Amino acid sequence: MRVSENDPALLDELLVCRLDSGRRNLEPCSIIIFGASGDLTARKLVPALYHLFLGRQMPMPFRIIGFARRAKTDEAWREELHEALTRFSRTRPIDEEVWRQFAANVHYCQGEFHELAAYTRLKHLLRGFGDPSLANNLLCYLATSPSQFGVVAERLSAAALIDKSGERGWQRLVIEKPFGADLASARQLNTELTRYAHETQLFRIDHYLGKETVQNLLMFRFSNSIFERLWNRDAIEHVQITVSEQHGVGSRGGYYEESGALRDMVQNHLLQVLALMAMEAPVSLEAEAIRDEKVKLLKAIRVWAPEQVLQQVVRGQYTAGTVAGKPRPAYRTEEKVAPESSVETYVALRVLIDNWRWSGVPFYLRTGKSLPAAASEVRVQFRPTPHVLFAAQCGPRLDANALTLRLQPDEGITLRFNGKVPGTSLQLRPVRMHFSYDAEFGAYTPEAYERLLLEAMSGDATLFIRRDEVEAAWTFVDAIREGWKGRTLENASFYEAGTWGPAAADALLARYGHTWRNPQAPATP
Ligand code: BG6
Repeated sequence: MRVSENDPALLDELLVCRLDSGRRNLEPCSIIIFGASGDLTARKLVPALYHLFLGRQMPMPFRIIGFARRAKTDEAWREELHEALTRFSRTRPIDEEVWRQFAANVHYCQGEFHELAAYTRLKHLLRGFGDPSLANNLLCYLATSPSQFGVVAERLSAAALIDKSGERGWQRLVIEKPFGADLASARQLNTELTRYAHETQLFRIDHYLGKETVQNLLMFRFSNSIFERLWNRDAIEHVQITVSEQHGVGSRGGYYEESGALRDMVQNHLLQVLALMAMEAPVSLEAEAIRDEKVKLLKAIRVWAPEQVLQQVVRGQYTAGTVAGKPRPAYRTEEKVAPESSVETYVALRVLIDNWRWSGVPFYLRTGKSLPAAASEVRVQFRPTPHVLFAAQCGPRLDANALTLRLQPDEGITLRFNGKVPGTSLQLRPVRMHFSYDAEFGAYTPEAYERLLLEAMSGDATLFIRRDEVEAAWTFVDAIREGWKGRTLENASFYEAGTWGPAAADALLARYGHTWRNPQAPATP
């Protein structure tokens, strides 16, 4: 689909169409959730599927099959899901009549992931539905630990449940991060999976891409001429991308000790937001065209040499403190965390993009746990005016213009510029122009998983990560880890829970004459 640059009306229409595309013409299919007893199924997948059904967005007919180790009846699994839905649904109360209709399509298949006979049972179950589409069109959601991805794919292929030929309906594998722990293991995983499924059958989830506001980064950039003209090194001085979280690692200490903030957040979510923010315009709205541009951007990121890492990347770890009025233990005393752990719960880094558009513009990225606010935003700081006409009255430096794209919460966009304070004296003050999603469109925001499941069922891979994106991101992240190798955290790396990270993160920006602008804490914690 080609979009003419000169026809904004057509572009608008295509964008609306595109947003709506997942909702039409979905072929009947079965969704098989491997790891059905896990947290992800209860918290995210089943509430998302229920809401799609509630909104009449599910294909008809459809089936959902939970695949897990423990033996249980369909009825028992439905009850578990009902209970989970009561806790995690974004709408309340649950519509019991809708649930009853939904649950009639939910089944359970007991099996070990490596047990071939279990896949044969699964096949019988699928055939028993009596509709070839339900037996052939399969969305296999691997809500398992990554160590199981290979075996499940291999067994699905051995049981002829998935095949690469595309002759018998469609089969897709949906997988969750982490996609490997470094470039080598990511490549190994990709090679293993592509033995059983084509790259086009692999849907790698980064749930940030399912967020409305993250999707809006592209819509915003490529449907407004005023901003896109300024989107380059001539007008922009620097960019800050902040993904701050109030919660600590909680019960996920075991996982987190292996990952740390760099692998947990930067390798995927932050680099994805950066790619959407900074990529060139795609030649069309096709998934491959968009992903080609993201890869080009990711490959243009300067990879820091090990000796540069300590200058350009700051890591931190939280100590005991208070977050949103509640005491928070130190990371080192959290469950399943080593008492001397050097794992980072915070990272701030300077990213340079070596291409024509962004040469010399620093992108500062930061993310951390146990910070004062749960807020994600992209802040574009424009260059100051070349000459300050009002220096005598207002001081030599006026606040430069800034555009903030708030990804969550309080989703919206704010433009900051200087205005005259009314009165007879000449006084300037920064003022803001706000756009708020809620105010404009009402409070309806679908969960990221609703959108992602819909797109996966419709076969649109735009919001999923392609193999080369994963590998480009690891190349950058591996180099940072190389620079940290063998180094424990220094005293200056620790930050008190409830503060904005270690002082070294402020020093990083100060070296280049910049300061972090912190998102505002939500009014009610
Ligand atoms: C996950 C990370 O991918 O993203 C978590 O593993 C993190 O550690 C979460 O808390 C953040 O997602 P969101 O949607 O709450 O911003």
